Amino acid sequence: MTSRTCLSVILAAGEGTRMKSALPKVLHPIAGLPIVAHVAKAVHSAGSGDIALVVGREGDAVRDAVKSVVSNVTVHEQKERLGTAHAVLAARDAIARGYDDILVVFGDTPLIETAALDQARAKLEDGADVVIMGFRPENPAGYGRLIEENGKLLAIREDKDTSDDEKKIGFCNGGFMALRGDSALQLLDKVGNANAKGEYYLTDVVEIANGVGKLAVAIEIPVENIIGINTRVELAEAEAIWQNRKRRAMMLAGVSIQAPETVFFAYDTLIESDVVLEPNIVFGPGVSIATGAVIHAFSHLEGAHIGPRAMVGPFARLRPGADLAVNAKIGNFVEVKNAKVGAGAKVSHLSYLGDAIVGAGANIGAGAITCNYDGYNKALTQIGAGAFIGSNSSLVAPVSVGDNAYVASGSVITQNVPDDALAFGRAHQVIKEGRAVLLRERYAAQKKAKKAE
Ligand code: UD1
Ligand code: MG
Repeated sequence: MTSRTCLSVILAAGEGTRMKSALPKVLHPIAGLPIVAHVAKAVHSAGSGDIALVVGREGDAVRDAVKSVVSNVTVHEQKERLGTAHAVLAARDAIARGYDDILVVFGDTPLIETAALDQARAKLEDGADVVIMGFRPENPAGYGRLIEENGKLLAIREDKDTSDDEKKIGFCNGGFMALRGDSALQLLDKVGNANAKGEYYLTDVVEIANGVGKLAVAIEIPVENIIGINTRVELAEAEAIWQNRKRRAMMLAGVSIQAPETVFFAYDTLIESDVVLEPNIVFGPGVSIATGAVIHAFSHLEGAHIGPRAMVGPFARLRPGADLAVNAKIGNFVEVKNAKVGAGAKVSHLSYLGDAIVGAGANIGAGAITCNYDGYNKALTQIGAGAFIGSNSSLVAPVSVGDNAYVASGSVITQNVPDDALAFGRAHQVIKEGRAVLLRERYAAQKKAKKAE
């Protein structure tokens, strides 16, 4: 990677009224991460350590979203929306700090990829003063057209200002730009607003650069990169594209996904090679899965770590703090929250483990649960290595069951069980010979009497 310094100016002053939402547009999530944070991640991995965020109202929440992924962020308020060049100049102080490269990107384009930004910066390093990231849409109407000659970009004509001939140009402005830091302000300050919309167009810097003998060029980037989100329909479309990219990247990295279109990842899902994902799995944020694990169908995972060769599901729910060691097994209709499950331990059916530590090789029977909450406080359940918890037992926390201890089925355990002990916490069984016959006769008589009434 280049050693050149880089500032990214993220324009996010748009109102986003078409989202019809109380939440600012750029804070709507894609794969669990706000749109604007996706943009910040992309510029950060393109080597831009510093970000100047241009916001309208409600800037604090937008800043926090960006700061969650990149720490060096300055916020600049654009009080009136007078155009994209005016928006960039709201970050004048940041640009004036002096950078080799300035990237200008839009805060509502979550699918922008690092590769496109890298390519633009490489052109600056090769000697260009202005680099435009262009694309070829199916329908160019509405976009600024790129006017090139001999590999040089002469001008960008905004759609409303194009002649009939220029309207036919298919190569369009994606909106993102890279500028040499030492001439950026000089060019931006020359932008006027004598155009069809009466706005200060960022795109005018191309003609201005040409006028003072500087070099502007365009590169072509994939269409997906520039998709901006304006409505919830576009939000869902972008989510779909993001998920497809992620599924493909996962499979190419060695993860088997049997029905890729039914598996939904979060922005930070980490999965090692030789993991198998069955159909219909949803990942919330914060999941990591080690090699060889299998996630069976219809499972929901969030904030969980799955150790090597562990098995999860079908129909399992792993909530934040679920931590499965090597070869652990979580079966169907099991919910795990803030609980460590030791190596080879099994929780095979219909259990709830909350705030627990389960030792290696322990076996938690069907329907056994931890009672971790009294309506006010949470408490810990500790289960020793090799312990056996009989089916349908309730472990009332705080409580511990020792190593290799045995809890009889149906027990309610309220006192600690020592190592190797056997604990019963249930009523004694009573047998009354022949009593079922009498019971049946009595009930039949009761029913008959009721009918006769
Ligand atoms: C812009 C480009 C156009 C390009 C298109 C691609 C300009 C003048 N035109 O047009 O060539 O084809 O993007 O989508 O740059 N913004 C502010 N403050 C403002 C104005 C805009 O923050 O005063 C932000 C918006 O929130 C948005 C971005 O800048 O994120 C782009 O603005 P928008 O009005 O969508 O520009 P377009 O007309 O689409
Ligand atoms: Mg736009």
